[in-house]
Amino acid sequence: MILEITGALDPHVHLRDLDWAHKATFASETAAALAGGYWAIFDMPNTPPATITRSALDIKLRRMQETALCDWGIYFGASQHGNEREYPAIIDDVCGLKIYNNATTGDLLIADQQVREAHYRAWAATNTRKPIAVHAEEQTVADILALVRQYRVFTHFCHISTREEIDLLRAAKVEGLPISVGVTPHHLYLTQDDLGTLGSLGLMKPELKTAADRASLWEAIADGTVDVVESDHAPHTLAEKQSNKPPFGVPGLETTIPLLGLAVHEGRITAERLVELVALNPQRIFGVQPPAGTITRLDLSASYVIERSKLHTAPRWSPFEGIRVFGRVREVRIGGNVVFDGENVRAVSGSGRRAI
Ligand code: NCD
Ligand code: ZN
Ligand code: ZN
Repeated sequence: MILEITGALDPHVHLRDLDWAHKATFASETAAALAGGYWAIFDMPNTPPATITRSALDIKLRRMQETALCDWGIYFGASQHGNEREYPAIIDDVCGLKIYNNATTGDLLIADQQVREAHYRAWAATNTRKPIAVHAEEQTVADILALVRQYRVFTHFCHISTREEIDLLRAAKVEGLPISVGVTPHHLYLTQDDLGTLGSLGLMKPELKTAADRASLWEAIADGTVDVVESDHAPHTLAEKQSNKPPFGVPGLETTIPLLGLAVHEGRITAERLVELVALNPQRIFGVQPPAGTITRLDLSASYVIERSKLHTAPRWSPFEGIRVFGRVREVRIGGNVVFDGENVRAVSGSGRRAI
């Protein structure tokens, strides 16, 4: 069975390039996005130089325009030193604001609730409909919900990973707060028990959790609490991951949609739900539409084993290596043009457009 997905959008990826071009480039990772079945990706602000000033944003915009192969959007990052006066001047050029409320890669952590509030107040004052995306874990989820309740800014909760967090967010949706919830394939398919075999290749933020937490994420997909499956694609070189101070993050752009194909095969979700999770819901949340003739053809009958040698992402490894998935990306078209033919990426560097 061929499933047609109109404009798959991954709203949570960490492209590398610029000061981290040794890990990957905008060209290599946007090619990986096409091979993974995506029309567009939204890039997070934590990779150096952090996207927290107008000039850093301009550098990223220019290089993306010159080199990206898929369509794209760029987040602006909230700085703990206060950069909210920049908002009116950047708002038209970004897909949203990202606030890091717990420690992760880079130094964008904002632990002070008053500083978080200043960012919410300033973003609300722009009257934009563009969301704030948050990295929030545990107690911080409740802290952010308090700001959403006060400022009514639409907020996307990235990579939610525990039952307690899901319960809070489910209740917040019942309350009517303007929020959406994303989960990652690694939290849906792996647990802390896999760390024994994965070693440092299983290290990411938020960390892998228990089987009970994982079950709660699947329940939340079934009952509609979860809106989006996002890869949190965060490539680091194999040498870095195998060093004695491994960085957090795993690649995921080429395995997310096939792993959801596996979920369809296993009867965990319907094919329609797959399309909502990777295309319709992210498009609605961020207010973007793909160009006419933008389609991913996913062959749900085709199964294969994930192998690192087949990947396009520059650091060729995956925490899902060896897993048999169902769902081969046969073709991706953007605006009628074949950009991935099932084997090779056919788009050229610089052909990707800003999606928002
Ligand atoms: C991300 C990265 O390396 O950029 N790492 C990760 O473990 N997910 C940052 C992040 O998403 O918090
Ligand atoms: Zn994060
Ligand atoms: Zn992330």
